[in-house]
Amino acid sequence: MGTVYLNGEFLPRSEARVSVDDRGFLFADSVYEVSAAYRGRLFRLDRHLTRLARSLKELRIDFDTRALVPVHERLLVDNGLADAPVAYVYAQVTRGAAPRSHAFPTETIPPTVYAYAAPFDRPTLDRWGEGFSAVTVPDRRWARVDVKTTALLPNCIALQAAVEAGAKDAILVRDGIALEGAHNNFWAVIDGTVVTHPVTNVILPGIAREYVLELCSNLGLPLELRPTMVEELAVAEEVFMTGTTTEVRPLVQIDGRPVGDGKVGPIARRLYMAFLDGVGA
Ligand code: PDD
Repeated sequence: MGTVYLNGEFLPRSEARVSVDDRGFLFADSVYEVSAAYRGRLFRLDRHLTRLARSLKELRIDFDTRALVPVHERLLVDNGLADAPVAYVYAQVTRGAAPRSHAFPTETIPPTVYAYAAPFDRPTLDRWGEGFSAVTVPDRRWARVDVKTTALLPNCIALQAAVEAGAKDAILVRDGIALEGAHNNFWAVIDGTVVTHPVTNVILPGIAREYVLELCSNLGLPLELRPTMVEELAVAEEVFMTGTTTEVRPLVQIDGRPVGDGKVGPIARRLYMAFLDGVGA
């Protein structure tokens, strides 16, 4: 069950209660972050909280994200995750509870702030080395997915399509472009160059993406920030996804067709090793 954080209190999960009038519940008027912790050390929490502050500002929700630093640290300790090889902390801020009305409440209401910590299972190196499969699905999300809101129904439907096809990831496609995954960023290796979408309103600027960009530059890998067209999936040497709970995940099959030679490629492998090394895993 574990201890969760809700509006200033640490309490058993079974005792945590949120109002039925909460705008997070009624309208997904709410933003969130998922941060990884490696042996209790939060990975780039400052970057996550900067992104959360930006999401809040875009939605005009007033909350100082610095208050969440001790919350993250204590949740790991209270849930026995301070020594876990890898764990994550989920944090969500909603606009708060108010009588249902689409427009924002006119009076000032306190935001609802919720957080919990959980372990996560990384695949064994053997399993990772077999690679993973994905399906392409149309991207049905709104036009501001750079804001990390909890309005994730299109993402859930996309991932469900992947699960029903026996695949691990869903690649969201809009205007013929493979944009990102249901909960991770998309990368390809084409003609020896690592390619990923530039940061715009059509992808989430991933913290793992930012880190992997640094790793590419440290490893001297040729890199291009540009969209990948779905037709290019047929000629890509490698495809992989990155994210907080994805780390670096190589895709060896998309829509039933092999990626490259159908095996995990050397670039994904080098980046994953560098990723694990860098986080101290
Ligand atoms: N998802 N794209 C989308 C749509 C995401 O939801 C996420 C993160 C990412 C990767 O971002 P980051 O590297 O900062 O984790 C990209 C989180 C983990 C989730 O929803 O559980």
